[in-house]
Amino acid sequence: MSSKSICFFNHKGGVSKTTTAYNIGWALSKLGKRVLLVDLDPQCNLTGLVLSNKALDDDFMASFYRDRQYITFEPIVEKIIAGNNAEDLARDGSVYPVDNENLFLLAGSLNISELDSQITTALKITTGVPILGRIIENFFSTLEKIAKNNDIDYLLLDLSPSISGLNELALMESDYFIVPTSPDYFCLQAIHSLSKKIIQWHAEIEQFKQTTKIRIKNKPMFLGAIQQRYRLRNEAPTKSFEKWIDEIRQTINNVFVKQLNEIGCVIDENKFHNAVSSCFPNLSPYDLAQIPDFNTLIAISQRSKKPVFLLDDKDLSDAKQFGSAKETSENKIKDFYELFMKLGQVIVNLT
Ligand SMILES: Nc1ncnc2c1ncn2[C@@H]1O[C@H](COP(=O)(O)OP(=O)(O)OP(=O)(O)O)[C@@H](O)[C@H]1O
Ligand SMILES: [Mg+2]
Repeated sequence: MSSKSICFFNHKGGVSKTTTAYNIGWALSKLGKRVLLVDLDPQCNLTGLVLSNKALDDDFMASFYRDRQYITFEPIVEKIIAGNNAEDLARDGSVYPVDNENLFLLAGSLNISELDSQITTALKITTGVPILGRIIENFFSTLEKIAKNNDIDYLLLDLSPSISGLNELALMESDYFIVPTSPDYFCLQAIHSLSKKIIQWHAEIEQFKQTTKIRIKNKPMFLGAIQQRYRLRNEAPTKSFEKWIDEIRQTINNVFVKQLNEIGCVIDENKFHNAVSSCFPNLSPYDLAQIPDFNTLIAISQRSKKPVFLLDDKDLSDAKQFGSAKETSENKIKDFYELFMKLGQVIVNLT
């Protein structure tokens, strides 16, 4: 069976796209799925989360890219920009294993921004420049080949916070997408402009397909939004955050979903309800999950190279947590474990 691709996208920065892709990757892998985390952001945060301190070591990173023990974006980008396909890399390279038999990383690199400029130009100039057309053709097919050769069930694509050509192509080639949100005004603003942008991209790609005869899926299905990082008081989001959460939910349903339905890019509401209600009975469409603030656990998680919900006794002791503070953390870890396993199951149900 071929792999399923899911983008984590919101052009608003800092809404937890990378962290959520990482956590869901771990959750799906714990549910027995083979997952490839794809770092498509030149900031390389996802790569940094996986490699931790090693990503800060210039010598390590130079040999990580150069030695080619694992396939990374750096050579892929070079080949694709030169107008070649990267089939040999896809065929011969294995992807980096993330301390877990089912989870892998396709590491990002800085030169992804060069690919981004090329793709942006290619999508605007639809005739007469064959090399640009080849860039478009080779980009996603390379990812699909890598997935196939490594028996991947899910490709999780972490996008940068921008509306560039690379994000346009990655989104429009993917099967599904999830929109992480934060409970604030800027995010609400972003949801309004995001649906306009996706409609525009859809039309642009349709036009591009017609003139070039290049195959692009152009039908990413919206799976839902993830409400992120509200402060809990007595187990419910505080009033001021609840207001933004409600407003964002309404905008997603009344504006975003309505517009995307016109181009057939939303998962059916009944299907959504059936998939989500068994795991999260209190959520209404299109909320996939509500994720509270990780507080101190996020700092421990980044040091331990593990998601917050898999931190163990040793991780807490190494972080100098003892007594009641440790007990509080242990309880939170259990809650987060349950939350992310359910979220993983919801995604499996929906896809
Ligand atoms: N639930 C959470 N609780 C606490 N901190 C969080 C949570 N989710 C994410 N963070 C933190 O918020 C910051 C932004 O998260 P992240 O980098 O995942 O967002 P992003 O949307 O990928 O950002 P960018 O737009 O720059 O790519 C990071 O410091 C991350 O550790
Ligand atoms: Mg990010």
